[in-house]
Amino acid sequence: MASTPSPSVPSTARLPLERKVELLTGATAFTLAPEPALGLGELRFSDGPTGVRGLKFSGGRVVALFPNATLLASAWDEAVLAEVGRLLAEEAAAQQIHVVLGPTINLHRSPLGGRLFEAFSEDPLLSGRLAAAYVRGMQGSGVAACLKHLVANESETERNTVDSVVDEATLRELYLLPFEIAVSDGGAWTVMAAYNDVNGVAATEQDHVINGVLKGEWGWDGLVMSDWFATKTAAPAANGGLDLVMPGPLGPWGQALVDAVRRGEVPEARVDDALARLLRLAGRVGALGEERSWPSVPAPDSPERREQLTRLAAAGMTVLTNTDGTLPLAAGTRVALIGRHAVETIDMGGGSAQVNPPYQVSVADGLGALLGDALTVVDGVEVRTRPVPARPELVQDPVTGQPGVRVTLLAADGRVLEERAGAPAVTAVGFDDDLPERVAAVRFQAVVAGPGRLEVGVMGQADWELAVGDARSAHQLRVAGTGFGEEMLRPPATTSLVETDGGLVLDATARLAEPTPERPLGGAGIFAVIARPAPRPQAEVLEQAAAAARGAEVAVVVVGLTEEQETEAVDKDTLALPGAQDELVRTVAAAARRTVVVVNAATPVLMPWLGEVDAVLWAGLPGQEGGHAVAAALLGDQEPAGRLVTSFPAADGASPAWSVTPVDGKLEYAEGTAIGYRGYAAGAAPEPAFWFGHGLGYTTWEWSGAELLAADGGSPRVRVHVTNTGSRPGREVVQAYLRPAEDDQPVRLVGWASVALAPGESAAVVVATDERLWRRWDTAAGGWSRLADGGELVLARGLGDVRATLPLGG
Ligand code: BGC
Repeated sequence: MASTPSPSVPSTARLPLERKVELLTGATAFTLAPEPALGLGELRFSDGPTGVRGLKFSGGRVVALFPNATLLASAWDEAVLAEVGRLLAEEAAAQQIHVVLGPTINLHRSPLGGRLFEAFSEDPLLSGRLAAAYVRGMQGSGVAACLKHLVANESETERNTVDSVVDEATLRELYLLPFEIAVSDGGAWTVMAAYNDVNGVAATEQDHVINGVLKGEWGWDGLVMSDWFATKTAAPAANGGLDLVMPGPLGPWGQALVDAVRRGEVPEARVDDALARLLRLAGRVGALGEERSWPSVPAPDSPERREQLTRLAAAGMTVLTNTDGTLPLAAGTRVALIGRHAVETIDMGGGSAQVNPPYQVSVADGLGALLGDALTVVDGVEVRTRPVPARPELVQDPVTGQPGVRVTLLAADGRVLEERAGAPAVTAVGFDDDLPERVAAVRFQAVVAGPGRLEVGVMGQADWELAVGDARSAHQLRVAGTGFGEEMLRPPATTSLVETDGGLVLDATARLAEPTPERPLGGAGIFAVIARPAPRPQAEVLEQAAAAARGAEVAVVVVGLTEEQETEAVDKDTLALPGAQDELVRTVAAAARRTVVVVNAATPVLMPWLGEVDAVLWAGLPGQEGGHAVAAALLGDQEPAGRLVTSFPAADGASPAWSVTPVDGKLEYAEGTAIGYRGYAAGAAPEPAFWFGHGLGYTTWEWSGAELLAADGGSPRVRVHVTNTGSRPGREVVQAYLRPAEDDQPVRLVGWASVALAPGESAAVVVATDERLWRRWDTAAGGWSRLADGGELVLARGLGDVRATLPLGG
């Protein structure tokens, strides 16, 4: 195991049981209590996979926003993920954070999963190896990573209660495999147990998975924490191997667990073991004994971060089609840039992965910086169904005149608890504010920029009194769904259209619900001011786009998804682009000499216009430097050498696993281990529009002389010569797939290797295949057995472009 040696931990024998148990529930939303008697300092946690948000759920510290997980993974490069892990540890150090709640290594089972943007891939080897690199990069700096969410947590529908029904072989060979790899090759120090049940047992009570597999078979000595509010019980969770309940200070352990120990239902040794694991973690991250020192690190808007984040984002961008070398665009090309995502580029997904970045570079800004006057920018059709919080440039604090809004937190008797000037238009209230008293109401004041026709309003579950100019109204806003998270992740909103010549004053007060035993956090939630230009008629938008396209040499249309589709808590119901974006692409393609489409989404979308456009560049959710990275990729300043990490279905429903809707509370993983390309290759769904592993880059490659190398003890290695036959330097990724002899075993990625070559250059590429993909789980025997001899090794650039097939002896 690549884990760090275990630090010695102090004895907890003299601590009363009550105190031991108390330490095993968070002290706040993201911190643990210190215990001077043990030399234990305060441990601080933060989300998440694409930026270290800090101790506040929203409206917190300004931090760097990284490219999303699928974009990073598309580089198929462990060095990229190791660098990301190291940089996230720096971001953590800037805030004295000990544990970063990532990476997410659930798999892309169905393309409808709302949280796929946070997770690397549909493939367990790629996910596991990239996660291990991320963990090593991060923990090498003394900041813990957290593998999440254990296990079978691939979709969001009914997420707090769904029972994922997964047979043991599928669990072992597919969904546990990334955890196994990241634990054994990465040595992760913490793991998060998921919200869902697995085969009828809560993930937080999984004696089989946590005690049996993770801590038992894998011999792992780290700490298992619950997902936030996921723990339902005291004794079953503690006995199941859960070590820490998050968040706190309330929760189902406390006195209930103390009583369970006293009644003999939970051995006290189990409590001691959980605490020993917590102390071991504290030792690893420097929170035991003498307080660690924290390095000084680059600011989120420093030149270093700008360079790193641009390069990392562009590395994963993927050329899906490119007729007649349309891309890269020559410098000075007259470009019409069209689309809402061009002017408001989406750089991150929704939910706990969101951060508060210093700035976000749109594609319009990024391309403008390289093309200057040769660029014309045209906004596109509406892409959302729900309003979003006002952007800072559209609102002003009425007292200070700063961009942003004035937020006042009030106690029940009207006293001011806190006042924030020039604050973001969105804020979490009553959840993680460091106030001695409960927030009973929150007041927002803003001057809304004009002139023009604007949509103005408020968002958040509360009773609102709203004044927009002279118009006063009252609103009782309530979430549609139930369950924790709805008021944070899908807050209700009300808006109206107003005409203003500037200086419109908005004054809104939200009265929060009182706490009850069922809802101890009362009316806590997300609250915001909404202000944006009123939507324009669609025909007018399309007409303007066509006119711009006609006047340019190349039209670049940026389309995509928003945080309405790619988010925690909600799944998609279609892969179609929202709004009239398909119509926009078709209108532009009909008018333009050449059309390039940039897809600004982390996961598959349908492209019914594929045959009508000249090139498609997939750009993921590219982080704060997104626009610069897209521009660098479009102009070829950096090759977008990405390869897809997930297959793109040709139509809705056309994937090996599709539905994410539980039936009677159960979600059957009936397709077994044949998700994604494994299922397409077996004919479980019509051929995908783009295969996992596909990506053209900007040059062409010839492969020759593929041969198996003698296995020196372990699994086979394979060698192939690759030649860059194009006119530009490029990076090639050689993917090795095993097609086993057994009919019931799907084809699977067993290894990959990459090489960067100048035009005309050749190199021999050796791919070592991973032992862990050459075995199958024998359910009857309860153990692993090696696959039967025979079958073949396939060398490919995705299974849609097979370059060599090598039979295996047997
Ligand atoms: C998410 C976790 C996250 C936690 C803390 C939960 O809603 O599922 O991934 O780390 O919140 O924000």
